[in-house]
Amino acid sequence: MSSLKDKIDFGRLPQHVAVIMDGNGRWAKEQGKMRIFGHQNGVAAVRAVSEACAELGVKYLTLYAFSTENWNRSKIEVDALMKLLSKTIAEEVKTLNDNNIRLNAIGDLTRLPKYNYDALMKAIEDTKNNDRMTLTLCLSYSGRWEITHAVRSLAEKVLSGELKLEQIDENCFSNFLNTKDMPDPELLIRTSGEERISNFLLWQLAYSEFYFTDKFWPDFNKEDLYEAIVNYQNR
Ligand code: IPE
Ligand code: IPE
Ligand code: MG
Repeated sequence: MSSLKDKIDFGRLPQHVAVIMDGNGRWAKEQGKMRIFGHQNGVAAVRAVSEACAELGVKYLTLYAFSTENWNRSKIEVDALMKLLSKTIAEEVKTLNDNNIRLNAIGDLTRLPKYNYDALMKAIEDTKNNDRMTLTLCLSYSGRWEITHAVRSLAEKVLSGELKLEQIDENCFSNFLNTKDMPDPELLIRTSGEERISNFLLWQLAYSEFYFTDKFWPDFNKEDLYEAIVNYQNR
């Protein structure tokens, strides 16, 4: 069977792909199941897309997994998502290492339950020497939170005299963001037919190409990723 992979120009691969993984709840609802069933099935898509990106040679894959606003969901759903997160982390560390993928996480991680925070830090530590691709999970993350947080740290440095007002420019500011060691994403993918940023990488997406698909996240697979990249390369 032919694959869209053959249409990809490897000389013009995006270095950084960001994804708003959306539609788990609607996917579950379509089958008469609870929302968490959709989240559980979304893990397979995370695995598929991570593997596909690493195989292609994408250097950074950033996934919006849980937003600051998502804390407002029902306690049942939030608890289930947190459990799913630590279960997934525990199960995937070996695969990450086998595939030479480094795990990273950004967001207000201190809001995560301790068992989750600890599992995450351990997985990050255990994969820190991998250099094929960096997989960043955005957890308790929002662009406005990140920017506000950056402004605070920057103001602190000005107040302490470590930084002069004249030194503040775009480059200086971006070094206070959680993404300071990454290039900006060239491509943003959002599934489920919604066409919003939903408070994702507000600063970093300034020049990114956006790709939207109606597919719900649990149905998103490697071919869908290739399609997004081919579409991006044809612009
Ligand atoms: C995305 O799916 C996953 C998270 C935000 C955690 P949703 O849970 O938003 O699913 P829909 O959009 O309600 O279908
Ligand atoms: C965005 O999806 C956040 C994540 C994918 C984690 P949401 O489903 O939470 O966003 P809105 O509420 O539809 O904008
Ligand atoms: Mg949603």
